[in-house]
Amino acid sequence: MMDYFSPGLAGIPATRSQISWIDGKKGVLEYRGVYIDTLCQQSHFIEVAYLLLFGAFPTRAQLAQFNADLCVHRRIKYRIVDLIKCLPENGHPMDALQAAVAALGMFYPDKNVQDEKTQYLSSVRLIAKLPTIIAACARLRRGDDIVLPRDDLSHAENFLYMLTEKVPDPIVAKILDTCLILHAEHTMNASTFSGLVTASTLADPYTVVSSAVGTLKGPLHGGANEKVLEMLREIGSIANVRPYIEAKLLAHEKIMGLGHREYKVKDPRAVILQHLSRCLFDHLGKSPLYEIAEEVERVAEEKMAGKGVYTNIDFYSGILYQKIGIEPDFFTPLFAMARVVGWLSHWIEQVRDNHIFRPTEIYEGRHDQPYIPLDKRKEA
Ligand code: COA
Repeated sequence: MMDYFSPGLAGIPATRSQISWIDGKKGVLEYRGVYIDTLCQQSHFIEVAYLLLFGAFPTRAQLAQFNADLCVHRRIKYRIVDLIKCLPENGHPMDALQAAVAALGMFYPDKNVQDEKTQYLSSVRLIAKLPTIIAACARLRRGDDIVLPRDDLSHAENFLYMLTEKVPDPIVAKILDTCLILHAEHTMNASTFSGLVTASTLADPYTVVSSAVGTLKGPLHGGANEKVLEMLREIGSIANVRPYIEAKLLAHEKIMGLGHREYKVKDPRAVILQHLSRCLFDHLGKSPLYEIAEEVERVAEEKMAGKGVYTNIDFYSGILYQKIGIEPDFFTPLFAMARVVGWLSHWIEQVRDNHIFRPTEIYEGRHDQPYIPLDKRKEA
């Protein structure tokens, strides 16, 4: 038995995969071999979802069918809406999302997870329904009725429509669509691994996705963009950036939105998000936080480039989402709405050639201990 231990399984391959690839030294990310920049410039989220799930770009007919299937499945059962209504209004929307996704599985008990039709249909249902659930959570907690989805709108447009009851500005919807592409997949991260472990038990895809949603919620994974926004507000002005960063570094504290386990140059997704933020602010008007963010990036690069610490995907996404009108605790649900594609792609890949995950551990406890009767045990 191997007794080598890598904390957090760092550097240990958990599976073989053909879905995405990172070159952390060159700042490259590919989905199915296609550069992320190319996909952001030339494709759209639903086409990228098909590519990730099924391994090839859809033909015109396949794309039309996929789109039509997604539109048909956008609605959620009234009982899912009732379930969301029963949850505490001040609870985190990621908890509501996890509960609602798990409950979906009770309505669609797809047992034969290795069947391709089941895989297609449950992927369609989950990708289509997550935005409806998330928009319902946002509206219900404000005391508003839910807005039913419209099938004449794109995935991003429809989501913004369900949130606001207004057909969105096409430039804003296009920017959001590109954000969804950027968040759709990222090799073997914590939530994907969590989903993969659940998938390996041949649990249904709703359980797989609800496991992954729970893992994404943690502040070390999906929650960092919310923290970046808090940090930028705390800094408050461009003049305060340098003293703030210097104080953080002196105290050996991490600066949110910087650094990445895989990338030792600027995260290619941060490059695209920065460009998208500029486009959004040119279109909707400047955000003072954006100028503070650029100064943070400049000072951080001056101080930390030597360590390979640069901005990551979370650095610009919070200010962008805020400008679109998304509330900060909905940043991570938005991440889930995109990453569900990656989770499902890995689910399909896993069950095709399944081996249940059953790692080992290095036992460091005691052996051969006696039973101590209750009246002989000493209070601590
Ligand atoms: N702020 C300041 N210093 C940082 C830093 C940050 N955000 N990220 C890394 N560093 C420094 C570390 O202090 C360490 O310096 P040292 O060698 O002098 O001790 C060095 O860079 C390596 O960092 P380490 O924490 O070992 O890297 P990691 O690969 O284990 O961690 C992250 C990666 C993402 C967990 C880490 O960069 C981080 O916590 N970032 C902030 C949170 C965040 O934005 N998360 C979203 C990731 S997409």
